[in-house]
Amino acid sequence: MMDIDAIMEQLRPRLDTHGLDSRVIRSHLGDCPWRVYLFSEVDSTNTRLKEMAKVGSPAGTVLVADRQTGGRGRLGRSFLSPGGVGVYLSALIRPDCAPTELMHLTCAVAVAMCDAVENAFGFRPGIKWTNDLVVENKKLGGILTELGLDPKTGRVSYAILGIGINCGQTASDFDESIRSMATSARMVLGREADRNLLIAEMVRALENMDQTLLTSTDAMLGRYRRDCITLGKWVSILRGDEVRHALALDIDAEGGLIVRYESGEIGTVTSGEVCVRGLYGYI
Ligand code: BTN
Repeated sequence: MMDIDAIMEQLRPRLDTHGLDSRVIRSHLGDCPWRVYLFSEVDSTNTRLKEMAKVGSPAGTVLVADRQTGGRGRLGRSFLSPGGVGVYLSALIRPDCAPTELMHLTCAVAVAMCDAVENAFGFRPGIKWTNDLVVENKKLGGILTELGLDPKTGRVSYAILGIGINCGQTASDFDESIRSMATSARMVLGREADRNLLIAEMVRALENMDQTLLTSTDAMLGRYRRDCITLGKWVSILRGDEVRHALALDIDAEGGLIVRYESGEIGTVTSGEVCVRGLYGYI
């Protein structure tokens, strides 16, 4: 098995990072003790950090890449990660708990990322259940959380918190197929968006989140409900080939979406099993 130094050596930046700068990020981090490793290019920061978690990297290890060649999204999708414009960040935490105690993890990361964007840029995105950050009905970013369990105890060994945020794109940078559904911090602000600052705010928000992850679930879910733009809307729930329409009512204690189907039946959908869309498009 490769040790951490060997992995880091493989990943060491050799190419341009388009203005991303470890020292500038560090200067924005204040007293946050987490360690940020910056790379020009990796396949996927989540994949690489998972390897590092398996060989003992400590909680608070963060990987950031200027671009990814194999960025991964939810439900096995790929996540396009061009250089110079996005933030692709993965953070390692090691909460001491059973996996069933972390059902709300993606919600907690989403609220933390709203805080980070607000602190960096002064506007607060909404959350499209479960894990999309949105502004004006367009996707600003997404979250992919992955858990590793201790095979002996079945408890959580590590969690990888992977986040991708569109920062510097203009509309023409997005492929035509997603242009009507995607936005960036630069498009929202109408000026350049500082990626180094956003990265630092993301790391600070994730460190805060980690400290209260197992103790402040109710308060966090209250904040999630306030940020969640899905609540009160009619949505299409896509489960394989089946599509059902439902009104989104609430978020349960585990981050599931409570809905009322057209038949009047009440149900809960969990993020791993379905894709939720607005009736007429992305939102
Ligand atoms: C989604 O929208 O489906 C989730 C996208 C998550 C993308 C981030 S970018 C950093 C980290 N590395 C990955 O390969 N994926 C996550």
